[in-house]
Amino acid sequence: MTVFNAETMIGVIGAGAMGVGIAQVAAQHGHRVVLADAVASSIAKAQEVHAKAMAREVEKGRLAREAADAVLTRLTYVEGASAAEFAAMSACEFVIEAIVENLGVKQVLFRTLEGVLSESAVLASNTSSLSIAAIAGACQNPERVVGVHFFNPATLMPLVEIIPAISTSDDVAKRARVLVDLWGKVTVMAADTPGFIVNRVARPFYSESLRLLEEGVADVATIDAAMRNVGGFRMGPFELMDLIGNDVNFAVTSSVFEGMFFDGRYRPANTQRRMVEAGLLGRKSKRGYYDYRDGAIAPTAHLDVKLAERIFDRVLAMLINSAVDAVHQRIASPADIDLAMTKGVNYPKGLLTWADEIGPHKILRCLDALHDEYREERYRASPLLRERVRLGQALNS
Ligand code: NAI
Repeated sequence: MTVFNAETMIGVIGAGAMGVGIAQVAAQHGHRVVLADAVASSIAKAQEVHAKAMAREVEKGRLAREAADAVLTRLTYVEGASAAEFAAMSACEFVIEAIVENLGVKQVLFRTLEGVLSESAVLASNTSSLSIAAIAGACQNPERVVGVHFFNPATLMPLVEIIPAISTSDDVAKRARVLVDLWGKVTVMAADTPGFIVNRVARPFYSESLRLLEEGVADVATIDAAMRNVGGFRMGPFELMDLIGNDVNFAVTSSVFEGMFFDGRYRPANTQRRMVEAGLLGRKSKRGYYDYRDGAIAPTAHLDVKLAERIFDRVLAMLINSAVDAVHQRIASPADIDLAMTKGVNYPKGLLTWADEIGPHKILRCLDALHDEYREERYRASPLLRERVRLGQALNS
């Protein structure tokens, strides 16, 4: 098995938000990198972003001028998407794509790459929502295809989920992990299932908060304040949805729901759909759950301690249930699930560790009360949670 090192030449396809960051991370760790995009303006913008990022590193004293220049000289830019245009990539041993989130387009790209790269090159996808098996399935050699999922912005967010498909060889997954570890990232292994770890486990943060809003339990400012003040979350769910973009968040929720064969636990909220339909996308459209236009007055939260605790308890119980269910279904190890949520979405604590601190029996009691009240599948406690409570065992083990 050839272990990747700084000499390994890296290819990145797609010079959008993610590809530009991934290429920068690799170049900063000593690799020669070829960054390709089908659109000329994306390439021009990528060059500009990289030049500015390196200038900032020098300005802040984090890099010497020569070192910053060396990073830029290690980056080569290619405009195009055909086999001939990818010729500059033929020596790359690890190629990651961050192009448009469309299965057919990614499959065509991977087939094209197979004709250009050496037999031993690894092909990685940064997809957030597509099945790695489906991308690999289009390749002649599916064993060398692996999911390598960075978080936005890739230069700053420490977490990377490594996702072997059914067909991926163990060797390829291990080598991809070692490479990304060399880039100073925190890697976790995730099963090739909808949303992988973070985008699956985090769903109730948004959906249960939307439920509370729809039921009139509290307004957005109060729910956000409860999650920040009682829970210690850096941002409340509505602030975060406005930052992510309600369209993007709704697309992720819808894709997980569909990927789970319409399991009711993952059903998106109508409120969110209406927000998207109305163009209230969040910060980027200046209006979402909050108003970001000049002169807009921020709503005040109603900080009733009992109400805040009730909100927090319900959302956290749902998040913990989601994490326990991910362990039960072998999506990842308990340690990796906790790491993923703290490093990928900045949760104040790993959910399983948090549950152990609170007492798993209390979480189970909260879920059972909700289930009794609503008789809905979404509140069904994970069988693993019930079993661990019965046996008196910790969840993060
Ligand atoms: P983006 O829209 O910012 O950039 C995509 C780039 O790919 C564009 O510059 C486009 O011209 C180029 N492109 C499209 N089709 C191409 C092709 N066939 N060949 C070459 N270039 C092509 O997209 P973004 O946000 O960077 O996402 C890229 C991938 O990363 C998607 O799979 C997405 O699901 C995933 N992802 C996105 C995250 C985010 O927060 N934006 C986070 C993690 C993963």
